[in-house]
Amino acid sequence: MAEPSLVAAGEEPEERAIEAALRPKNLDDFVGQHRVRKQLSLVLQASRMRGRTADHVLFSGPPGLGKTTLAMIVAAEMNAPLRLSSGPAIQHAGDLAAILSSLSEGEVLFLDEIHRMSRPAEEMLYMAMEDFRVDIVVGKGAGATAIPLELPPFTLVGATTRAGLLPGPLRDRFGFTGHLEFYSVAEPGTGPAPVSGPAGPEGQLRRIRRNCRQVPRHSPYRQPPAATGPGLGAGARRRTNRCQGGVSCP
Ligand SMILES: Nc1ncnc2c1ncn2[C@@H]1O[C@H](COP(=O)(O)OP(=O)(O)OP(=O)(O)O)[C@@H](O)[C@H]1O
Ligand SMILES: [Mg+2]
Repeated sequence: MAEPSLVAAGEEPEERAIEAALRPKNLDDFVGQHRVRKQLSLVLQASRMRGRTADHVLFSGPPGLGKTTLAMIVAAEMNAPLRLSSGPAIQHAGDLAAILSSLSEGEVLFLDEIHRMSRPAEEMLYMAMEDFRVDIVVGKGAGATAIPLELPPFTLVGATTRAGLLPGPLRDRFGFTGHLEFYSVAEPGTGPAPVSGPAGPEGQLRRIRRNCRQVPRHSPYRQPPAATGPGLGAGARRRTNRCQGGVSCP
């Protein structure tokens, strides 16, 4: 299955390719965030053992720490298709109903910046998450009728940089919430992969913390895989190597 585009429209195709190549594909490749990774691994393992779709998962934390990456990993680990959307794109309950009604069984629906969804859509999501059904309202005013629609079981993965803005009822419907922290040298054996820096994990972590504001997106150690490296254009090289040598991050 082709990996969906997760970078801003307008970026060069080669930049999109390099972004996709750098993103860890499974939990084993995702280094750091030990607590979240361990708990998520148990949640997914339990679902697989029960032969059920995974619980709804919420990832929160500052930009660039790996929320989108983990959402993609949830789908990969569950061997499920992934649907991508975002809060700002869902401004009407109908937008959400269209997405939900086209999900297939077991599909992972990723809603980025979920705190920016409109209120009516949010309320529709409550029932969808809990009972796997929605009420589609047809007509207006006194003549409006609600048509119940059964949904196939799915997993919602939400991501937010502003967990405090999520209403309690929505937060409560997630079976697992992972809060991503800034990278720290206190966390042993961590650092963005693939690791190829000069000073081993401890030294790399120190440099990430010092030069890249503890954020993997800014890591000097994000290297293109050997197979794609030599063919990269100047734009992609600039992007991947922008922190090379430990100089200050942009
Ligand atoms: N643990 C990690 N190991 C290796 N690379 C990582 C890790 N976490 C994030 N990255 C890399 O950092 C970049 C940013 O990650 P990602 O897009 O998942 O962050 P995000 O939390 O979704 O950010 P935003 O809030 O801006 O959407 C990605 O290109 C990803 O490849
Ligand atoms: Mg993201």
